[in-house]
Amino acid sequence: MSFLETRLLGVRYGGIRAVRDIDIKVEEGETVALIGANGAGKSSMLNAIAGVLPHTGKIYFNNADLTNKPVFDRVKLGISMVPEGRGVFGRLTVEENLLMGAYLGNSQQDQDADLKQMYEFFPRLKERRGQTGGTLSGGEQQMLAIARALMSRPKLLLLDEPSMGLAPIMVEKIFEVIRGVSKTGVTILLVEQNARLALESSERAYVMESGELSITGESSELLHSPKIRSSYLGEGD
Ligand SMILES: Nc1ncnc2c1ncn2[C@@H]1O[C@H](COP(=O)(O)OP(=O)(O)OP(=O)(O)O)[C@@H](O)[C@H]1O
Ligand SMILES: [Mg+2]
Repeated sequence: MSFLETRLLGVRYGGIRAVRDIDIKVEEGETVALIGANGAGKSSMLNAIAGVLPHTGKIYFNNADLTNKPVFDRVKLGISMVPEGRGVFGRLTVEENLLMGAYLGNSQQDQDADLKQMYEFFPRLKERRGQTGGTLSGGEQQMLAIARALMSRPKLLLLDEPSMGLAPIMVEKIFEVIRGVSKTGVTILLVEQNARLALESSERAYVMESGELSITGESSELLHSPKIRSSYLGEGD
C-alpha cells in the first residue's frame, strides 16, 4: 500500500458531488500536486483527507485506515493541513499561534525545541514573535500557517493554495520554504492554482475537473503536455 491512498473518495454538499470516487496515491517523501480550475474539488479532497469534512470511500495513511477517524487522531498519526485562507488567529501573537499547532502530547521541552526550530527556519517569525497574527503581511501569515502546521511534527503536510494573494517575490519565498520542508522528508500534497509553480515544485501531479481526475503523471512531463499547456498554463498549442 502507498503511504497515502484514497479509494473511491467522495465528498458531497447536499446535492452537489464535489469529489467523485477519487483514487490517489502518494508515496513517502514525495511532493504531489493537485491542480484544477476553481470549484474542481481540490479543497474538498484535502479537507476530507485532513478529516475536517465527512466523506465516503476509504483513506489509508501509513498503513492505518483513517476512514471515520476524527481530526485529532489524524494529527496524532502525522497529518497536518494548512487550510485555504491560512486560518491564522488574528488576535493571538505569532508565538501563541505556533503553540496552538503543537501536538498536545508533546512535552514542554519538545515544544520549546520545535519553537526554536521554527524560528530558525523562519527568522521573520522570530522577529515578529510578540506581534498579533492579524498585523502580519499576507506572506508572513502564510509562513506562520506553515510553521504552525509543522509544529505537530507531521509526516504528511496538506497545503491548500499557499501562493494565494501573495506578491510574486513572496510566492518565491513560500515555495522555497515548501521545498525546504520536503527536503526534511515530509510528504507533501499540494493544492495550487498556479499550475506552473505546482508542477515545477512536485514530482507527480493529479489534475481534477468537476470532481473527477482527468490527467495524472510526472510533473515534468505534464509541464510539456499540450492539453495542460493550453488549459492550465495559459499557452496556446
Ligand atoms: N460548504 C459548501 N457548501 C456547498 N457547496 C460547496 C461547499 N464547499 C464547496 N462547495 C462546492 O463544491 C465544489 C468544489 O469546491 P472546492 O472548494 O473543493 O473546489 P476547489 O477546487 O478547491 O476550488 P478553488 O480553486 O476555487 O479553491 C464547488 O462546486 C463548490 O461550489
Ligand atoms: Mg480550494
